[in-house]
Amino acid sequence: MKLQVMPLEKLNPAAYNPRKDLQPGDAEYEKLKHSIETFGCVQAIVWNERSGNVVGGHQTLKVLKDLGRTEAEVSVVDLDDEHEKALNIALNKISGSWDNDKLDALLTELAADMDFDMELTGFDPDEIDALGEELGEEAAGIMSKLSDNVAGTLADTFLVPPFSVLDARQGYWQDRKKHWLGLGLKSECGRGENLTFAKSLQMGKNDNGTSVFDPVLCEIMYRWFNVPGGLVFDPFAGGSVRGIVASISKMPYVGIDLRPEQIESNIQNAKELSLPEDGSLQWYADDSKNMDKYIEDGTADLLLTCPPYFDLEVYSDSPNDISNMDYAGFTTAYSEIIGKAAEKLKENRFAVVVLSDVRENYGFYRDLTGLTKRVMAEHGLGLYNDIILLNQIGSGACRVRRNMVMRKVVRTHQNVMVFYKGGPKGVKDYFPELQEIDDKKVADIVGSNPE
Ligand SMILES: C[S@@+](CC[C@H](N)C(=O)[O-])C[C@H]1O[C@@H](n2cnc3c(N)ncnc32)[C@H](O)[C@@H]1O
Repeated sequence: MKLQVMPLEKLNPAAYNPRKDLQPGDAEYEKLKHSIETFGCVQAIVWNERSGNVVGGHQTLKVLKDLGRTEAEVSVVDLDDEHEKALNIALNKISGSWDNDKLDALLTELAADMDFDMELTGFDPDEIDALGEELGEEAAGIMSKLSDNVAGTLADTFLVPPFSVLDARQGYWQDRKKHWLGLGLKSECGRGENLTFAKSLQMGKNDNGTSVFDPVLCEIMYRWFNVPGGLVFDPFAGGSVRGIVASISKMPYVGIDLRPEQIESNIQNAKELSLPEDGSLQWYADDSKNMDKYIEDGTADLLLTCPPYFDLEVYSDSPNDISNMDYAGFTTAYSEIIGKAAEKLKENRFAVVVLSDVRENYGFYRDLTGLTKRVMAEHGLGLYNDIILLNQIGSGACRVRRNMVMRKVVRTHQNVMVFYKGGPKGVKDYFPELQEIDDKKVADIVGSNPE
């Protein structure tokens, strides 16, 4: 090792340095400064005498200048450009975070020289491949690295990143769900087994197969697709989630469900949560074919509903329960209800239907999503967003081997179909641009924060 005392002004920071440039005030910068003040500069800056560039120790150089030093003992190397860059990466690789764009550019540049030994960078070929995939699939990267700044920023405004796949398996989604559960939502009450909402989440051993509407999906649908304070209509209300989240989000809600016990339980749940009893949250027990009794045409600002997925779950033995009909009866009754519901919507508003195609006996799919699109189109609503909701795998893990005997993959997603009534050009005129939510506002939307 060749050590030499050099004036700091002769040490040029490398323009391509792929490490994030720390600034005074950054935690890492202050730590380094403190360490240098305490122990002195025990790690020599590496300097390439051929180019004049610093190869390692950019942050140390910055701190030394900040401390008013004018010279330092440096480790002098004599390298061509390629080797200088490789050594820069190798020295940096030990710890800390990368500026991914610069790192990618640098590795790509070095890799362009077929003869260059990339392992000099300290990255083995597998690591370089993995990094390339990560950087190449930008959107996927954003989705998977939720702690990543970009996703963080998106979440500040949209609650979750607004891509066409919504991933309910992610930690941020599950955390948010816990906030809602902490409020005491009991969406499953009113069902046969009277399960609590919280129990139903323990997927796997306690998964009894009944579906519960996800409160996080609900809040983002309200945030993204309703106007502030807009009336939500729901012709297959089911559990209390959509009504309660609407009430907490300060949106009036009208929900209809065939089963009186479900409606009673929803009303009870709203009382337990001390939601305002000012008539803004209304549930009615009736066949939704009779929806004209409860809501006028052209008055709803958002249609959000989750109909029976044909007979996947049978909710009651009532002859009017569409989950209890043969497929021909189901399609007729479902089409009538969805068509009427579409008429309840104002112009220039969204309708969101959460649904899944279901298998018939031989394993082929029934086209429930196609049916919904056709009915909506007949009533002037076009499909505007086609979203996949990825559910937790839960009990699917137990079925997967058995299913694959028949080459049937386990379905772990649902469709979230977002329709628009009117010309989509008007969307930006009717829906204000979403603003960043500060913590307080998030707490307001959620109502309370159990943590
Ligand atoms: C998929 S479920 C709702 C489950 C949902 N995930 C939730 O939020 O609880 C559909 C609901 O439609 C209701 N339903 C079935 N036929 C109906 C009809 N003709 N009119 C109104 N509601 C009906 C059922 O009682 C059931 O609660």
